[in-house]
Amino acid sequence: MSNLAIDGARLLGHLHSLGEIGRDDQGRLVRLAGSDADRAGRDQFVAWLRAAGLEVVIDRIGNIFGLWSPAGAEGDPVLVGSHIDSVIDAGIYDGCYGVLGGLEVIETLKSTGFSPTRPLAVAAFTNEEGVRFAPDMTGSLVFVGGMAVEGALATIGTDGATLGAELSRIGYAGPAQPGFLRPHAYVELHIEQGPVLHREGIAVGAVENLQGISWQRVTIAGVANHAGTTPMHLRHDAGFAAASVITFLRARAAASPSPMVATIGTIRFEPDAINVIPSRAVFTVDLRDPNEDRLAAEEAALADYLEHIAAAEGVTVTTERLARFEPVTFDAGIVALVEAEATRRGLGVRRMTSGAGHDAQMMARIAPSAMIFVPSIDGISHNPRERTEEADLIAGANVLLGVVAKLAGAA
Ligand code: GLV
Ligand code: MN
Ligand code: MN
Repeated sequence: MSNLAIDGARLLGHLHSLGEIGRDDQGRLVRLAGSDADRAGRDQFVAWLRAAGLEVVIDRIGNIFGLWSPAGAEGDPVLVGSHIDSVIDAGIYDGCYGVLGGLEVIETLKSTGFSPTRPLAVAAFTNEEGVRFAPDMTGSLVFVGGMAVEGALATIGTDGATLGAELSRIGYAGPAQPGFLRPHAYVELHIEQGPVLHREGIAVGAVENLQGISWQRVTIAGVANHAGTTPMHLRHDAGFAAASVITFLRARAAASPSPMVATIGTIRFEPDAINVIPSRAVFTVDLRDPNEDRLAAEEAALADYLEHIAAAEGVTVTTERLARFEPVTFDAGIVALVEAEATRRGLGVRRMTSGAGHDAQMMARIAPSAMIFVPSIDGISHNPRERTEEADLIAGANVLLGVVAKLAGAA
């Protein structure tokens, strides 16, 4: 077992092939959940699963599983995976690395006569990114019983489409009941998407926890009026109120003693005209903190500020919760396995916190789980410039190989 290694060229080939699927007419990678591009990516992944001789199972929320249950393998499977949906104008590694790295690990073990005592499985979970449908991590959330499948299928997307209808349309509303398998353990390989490993020159992150995530949609209703004739003190400007919220959150984050982060990633004004005071502003707020109490305190501070700005500007404010996930602590035993396997392979390793959301944070509700990170060059992600050195991609997948082999109980 000790010298076993994945086929790096095959892994990189899969990553680059999948990365070409779902390019829009400007060449941007946009593989939003339930879209035609998502279907094309899924079809390719399923073809690779079949070519590898894995049993393919699709569940009702569209999660795809590739199962390997050779003779002698019994009990709950060791599950690896991540997601293949993307953000808008994405890089090619986010999520895909964990899915294709997982497939690579199983193919390697399968082709080298490895006899696991447990089945192995790789998953691609539906709508991890949450760009089109909220909440994010829908597939894994439903899989662990955190959201009813009917409710999730009824989710309306940013373009008015329904997740369930879109999954049916693209042929991925499967028959299996979410939760049809209970993993013995779940391990997710992922690019870090932040600067820590690259800056410190460390090859592997053993991820021991993941910060809490709070998503809201805020709607501010003001009064449209003439931009040239309305004196400043007589305005009820939804645009100004929205801008005040943006600067409030930036100032809160800057003053916070915690590593709290705050982002307004979408904003829309109505009527959206150069010479009309905005009557309406709709924007999203993404707040994150590794500490649940601090995250709750930031949500409360935002709620207070929204009341304040409503009174001060004479506007009304309503909020809608889109996602709320508490921070997660991963399984100490698997984190230690990741550290030990990286060290055994002569790789630098450090423990770390994940700033991004991942399917592992859902799977941790039902199975011992952890993550393996590899460096992101300059910490760039959710951007087409997202990149990881090939040697780091291969090294991380080899760490996953060793960890999976241990968890699958082989001699
Ligand atoms: C997923 O990429 C997230 O952390 O938003
Ligand atoms: Mn991801
Ligand atoms: Mn992402």
